[in-house]
Amino acid sequence: MKIQISPSILSADYGNLETELRRITAAGADMVHIDVMDGHFVPNITLGAPIVKCLRHATDLPFDVHLMIAEPQKYIPDFLSAGADSITFHTESDGDVGETIDLILQSGKKAALAVKPATPIETVYPYLDKISMVLVMTVEPGFGGQSFMADMMPKITALREECARRGIENMDVQVDGGIAANTIGIAAKAGANVFVSGSALFGSADIAETISAFKALCE
Ligand code: DX5
Ligand code: ZN
Repeated sequence: MKIQISPSILSADYGNLETELRRITAAGADMVHIDVMDGHFVPNITLGAPIVKCLRHATDLPFDVHLMIAEPQKYIPDFLSAGADSITFHTESDGDVGETIDLILQSGKKAALAVKPATPIETVYPYLDKISMVLVMTVEPGFGGQSFMADMMPKITALREECARRGIENMDVQVDGGIAANTIGIAAKAGANVFVSGSALFGSADIAETISAFKALCE
């Protein structure tokens, strides 16, 4: 699967998001990771669909919306009409997982499932035929700048094996949390191909250089 770098705008300058999006686009990012938190599913609040809508014109990169909210079904239509290209929601959130996936697929957009560190990867197996991506969280969701949990790697390996068993060849496996120069290779080796990075990317002096370096470390 293609290696893709997805900057998390959680670590961007929220006062200048349009400029930040142009900056990561020019730097060679493959998509934009938008963290949505409701202060309930996770103990932090970020942004909602109106902001996503206002940012849509700033870049042609796909918007990958990571919903860390208790009731995804309630808000998914808003994020879809705001311009999300893919929606990732947590198996731990409220509502029937299959129904929520269908809600996303009905609009012709991509659906992805996320699992928190304590959730077994097997939780996503019943839905592998419908979804395009699985997000294996490598930190407890809620905040940027936390340490990478290498003990999540067996979940990625198991997921890749399960996909192979079922003949699913085009599953994107995303990791989110603590991705930096010293951890990205570990996740790539385990089988991840989509890498979210917030603090390491936005904190680097040259984002384009960091993205190229990250990709090289995945080889
Ligand atoms: C955490 C978010 C991540 C976060 C990653 O809840 O889902 O996307 O921005 O930030 P870093 O790369 O700093 O760990
Ligand atoms: Zn995220």
